Parts: sequence; C-alpha cells; structure tokens
Amino acid sequence: MKTRITELFGIEHPIIQGGMHFVGLAELASAVSNAGGLGIITGLTQGTPEKLADEIARCREMTDKPFGVNMTFLPAVRPPDYPGLFKVIVESGVEVVETAGNNPSQWLPMLKEAGIKVIHKCTSVRHALKAQRIACDAVSVDGFECGGHPGEDDVPNFILLPRAAEELEIPFVSSGGMADGRSLVASLAMGAEGMNMGTRFIATKEAPVHDNVKQALVAASELDTRLIMRPLRNTERVLTNAGVERLLEKERALGSELKFEDIIPEVAGIYPKVMQEGDVDAGAWSCGMVAGLIHDVPTVKELVDRIMSEADAIIAERLAGIRAS
Ligand SMILES: Cc1cc2nc3c(=O)[nH]c(=O)nc-3n(C[C@H](O)[C@H](O)[C@H](O)COP(=O)(O)O)c2cc1C
Repeated sequence: MKTRITELFGIEHPIIQGGMHFVGLAELASAVSNAGGLGIITGLTQGTPEKLADEIARCREMTDKPFGVNMTFLPAVRPPDYPGLFKVIVESGVEVVETAGNNPSQWLPMLKEAGIKVIHKCTSVRHALKAQRIACDAVSVDGFECGGHPGEDDVPNFILLPRAAEELEIPFVSSGGMADGRSLVASLAMGAEGMNMGTRFIATKEAPVHDNVKQALVAASELDTRLIMRPLRNTERVLTNAGVERLLEKERALGSELKFEDIIPEVAGIYPKVMQEGDVDAGAWSCGMVAGLIHDVPTVKELVDRIMSEADAIIAERLAGIRAS
C-alpha cells in the first residue's frame, strides 16, 4: 500500500505502533520497524536524557529502518527533563516524534530544523486542527475506544475519523480499537491513511513485557475495560482488576471531592510491577476495548503480514465481490 503516511515516514506498511509506557522499548519498536511499520520508543519510560540516548542507540542496532520516539505531556508530580530529552532526540538522528497529551508547539521549531517528522496524537477534531495549524506533519486520531487517555469528548472512531477527514488537510491515521485487516480497510474507507495500534502490539512475542500481561489481553473481552479518573478530567481506559474496582469505588464515594492523592495507591508506580514483574492486578494500566479482538500472541512480523494480507483480501475479494456489476 502507498499512502501519504507511508510516503511521509518512508515505511512499507501504513501501520504505526503508538508509544506505550514500559512497553515501547527498543525490542518492540525495532520489531515493528523491521516488519515494515513504524515502531516508537516511549521517551518518558526512560526518564533521563542519558537513558533515552542509550535506548535509541540500542534500537538503532536492532533496525536500519526509520523509527520514532513518543513524547507525552501529562500532569506529573515531578515533571521530566523535557529540554534534555528533546535535545537527545534531535542529536540522535531519530526520524519521527509522536507527541501526545498537550500542545507540542514549543518543541516544533527544533524538531523541524532537524528534519524530524512530527505526528501528534489527539482525541478531537479541534485538537487535530490545532496540530495542523502549528505545522505538525500528521495526526493520529485517537477514538473513545482507545487504550490510555481518550480525552473527555467520548467520540468513537466511526464518527471521529470521518469528521477528521472532513476537516483536515494533513494526513492522519486512525487510533483506538485497531487490530487487524478489517480495522485497516475501515480506517482507509473513513479517510485515514494508515492506523496506529497500542494494545494489539502488547500481545506479540517481541513486546518486552511479562507473559502474564499478554495472557491477560488474550483472556480479556471487549467488556473488561473501565474508565478511571473521570472526575479529575484525566480519563484513562484501563483493564479492570481488583485495584481498578477499588479505585472506582473511591470515585463513587468521594464524588466531586476526589483528589489525585486519594487514588495514588492504585495508579502510582504500577507500570513496572505489571509489565516487568507480571503482577497484572497491581493497579491501573492502560488497555483498549480492542482486547476483545486479541486471541493470540504472534510475532510482530506475523501480525503485520496478516493484517496486510487480510486487508488485501477484503479490498480485492470481499469488497470487489459485493459491487453490483
Ligand atoms: C499499556 C499502554 C500504555 C500507553 N502509554 C502511552 C504513553 O505513555 N503515551 C502515549 O502517548 N500513549 C500511550 N498509550 C496509548 C497508545 O499509544 C495508543 O494511542 C492507544 O493504545 C491506541 O488504542 P488501542 O490500545 O485501542 O490500540 C498507551 C497505551 C497502552 C495500552
């Protein structure tokens, strides 16, 4: 397939792996890029500029294809060293930056000057238009189904993607709920020029996370995610477990009195426990409704090849076959 997204990023298939805390390490990013997609290292997981530089170098050793770094701007108790992290990104010759969580305009001049392409992930048409206005190269349009932070507008992709297509001039990829060839063809039909996947890429052989996490995704259905932190206007879609249900109980009990401090035990420091130690009940971790479409743990290349051949078959056989002659 050739779309404005494959052309922009110099990739073979219009498939991107979104940044994922404690999942988007060099192993996964390089596997996605080697399979012909765009792999992305999650900058904040590394924490310091030195560690990010090492991770980028490690990824560079594992692939000679383009890959990116995700930079997320979210409320943090101790803000990360953004200037240092962006300096490393520019100096290391990374091809793409995926920004998310807030307006990246402050960092665009230095990225543009270095020839780095910027794809901004956003959950509404108005934020996508803003990204276009500040000269981002592309956007990733993240629907209400998505794992992680869906924003507060609650517009699912069947509406959000065609709305984005109506308004945007820069290319965009679908994100949220994407799993297979059907997702890709549907995204293209709705005006996207590729798709971004998070949760689906966790259940792959190369994802550097504990096997319990992959098995939890295979076992989960589309009914097993919950929305947390709505009262704080920092909504996150996570896989349910005892810690998440305890957190939701606190939200119900405290109502508008809820403060971040009330839920620290269920949300702070959870990712290493889940992803590295395999304690999937430790607390809240992001997961999309797409878990209901995950039934196996293939290699990244098997997954990407399967998506592309399914998409080809849908276009050439199923869709071509239902056209009235
Ligand atoms: C475990 C996990 C961690 C994530 N961490 C981040 C992150 O640190 N920064 C970010 O921009 N998006 C993050 N995301 C969101 C993904 O990049 C992507 O937008 C989302 O997963 C797409 O929805 P899907 O899971 O339905 O494919 C995360 C998602 C998951 C599942």
